[in-house]
Amino acid sequence: MNHRVTVDLGERSYDVRIGAGVRGELPSELSALGGPTQVAVVTSPHLRELYGDDVAARLRDAGHGAWVAEMPDGEEHKTLDTAAGLYDQFIQRRMERSSLVVALGGGVVGDVAGFVAATYMRGVRFVQMPTTLISQVDSSVGGKTAVDHPMGKNLIGAFHQPQLVLIDIATLKSLPDRQLRAGLAEVLRYAVIQSPPLFSLMEGRVAEILARDEDTLAEIVHHSVAIKARIVEQDETEAGLRGTLNYGHTFGHAVEAVAGYARFLHGEAVAIGMVCAAEMAAARGMVDRDFCERQRAVLSAAGLPTNCPDDIGASDVVEAMKLDKKVKGGRVRFIVPTEIGSVEIRDDFSDAEAIAAMEAATA
Ligand code: GLY
Repeated sequence: MNHRVTVDLGERSYDVRIGAGVRGELPSELSALGGPTQVAVVTSPHLRELYGDDVAARLRDAGHGAWVAEMPDGEEHKTLDTAAGLYDQFIQRRMERSSLVVALGGGVVGDVAGFVAATYMRGVRFVQMPTTLISQVDSSVGGKTAVDHPMGKNLIGAFHQPQLVLIDIATLKSLPDRQLRAGLAEVLRYAVIQSPPLFSLMEGRVAEILARDEDTLAEIVHHSVAIKARIVEQDETEAGLRGTLNYGHTFGHAVEAVAGYARFLHGEAVAIGMVCAAEMAAARGMVDRDFCERQRAVLSAAGLPTNCPDDIGASDVVEAMKLDKKVKGGRVRFIVPTEIGSVEIRDDFSDAEAIAAMEAATA
């Protein structure tokens, strides 16, 4: 089943279309966005073979001047160097201000291609076509674009909203299991911050999700995107509410940093982070134990880690949190649950409470 969500940002509003096979509708969607144009389809060599050449050929058949711009995939390539490689290709191909960028890939391709679209000739239009669950439910919607700096992730970036997001559920068929599971952590994150119905859906239908039933996947992506759209509409540049999307990420990013980025996928670290944040809230009586157990049960059924390995030191994780972008005025901000569907942003937790929560979540 197909779904459509509109992100209402006045003149910069756009649609997110979700369904199996929607990538075939890119040519007509682009024609609706302003007629034939020159299109760079930015993708990785692997995805070029799977989908990229086909997407470009269909655009050419419809009268657009489409070509494929390759970039290497993987967090280690989310750099200014990779962006520079794309600028070179765009200049050689004489991309103009009226040209359009299609970001076809996971979060790294989307963030880098989006950053290049935000900065090439002071900004050209772009379309997100995310191919991983994590990018479909999160980074492709909301206009955050960035590259990493050796001192930290996403430190160089821009807000640049896409013109359209096309989420082809069929691309999840080619996603490795571990990455699908990691994406489910971000889906459960939406459920905890805003949506008891999505939480129940995850509790009741995890088997269909893991079996990649397309309608169920489309449903959880639709729920997630609708929540993200409403949050971005109210707080595009993360002055407040958008920060609630960081549930599980304060602990999660720090666990990733301490463990080394190769050890956990982002979603796996977020799953551990969600367990820690819930333990911290439960220790203060802000949320009940039943919440902690239900959250752990869904994460575990989805095949995600719910314990922090004991070789990762709790005090190292707490120190790493202090280097995060989410620190404001020297205080670490935590997103803590109060019940399913509701969280608070708090900066009054002590190091000792964070360490105790990590210990409660340690294997
Ligand atoms: N990934 C969090 C956000 O887009 O704000």
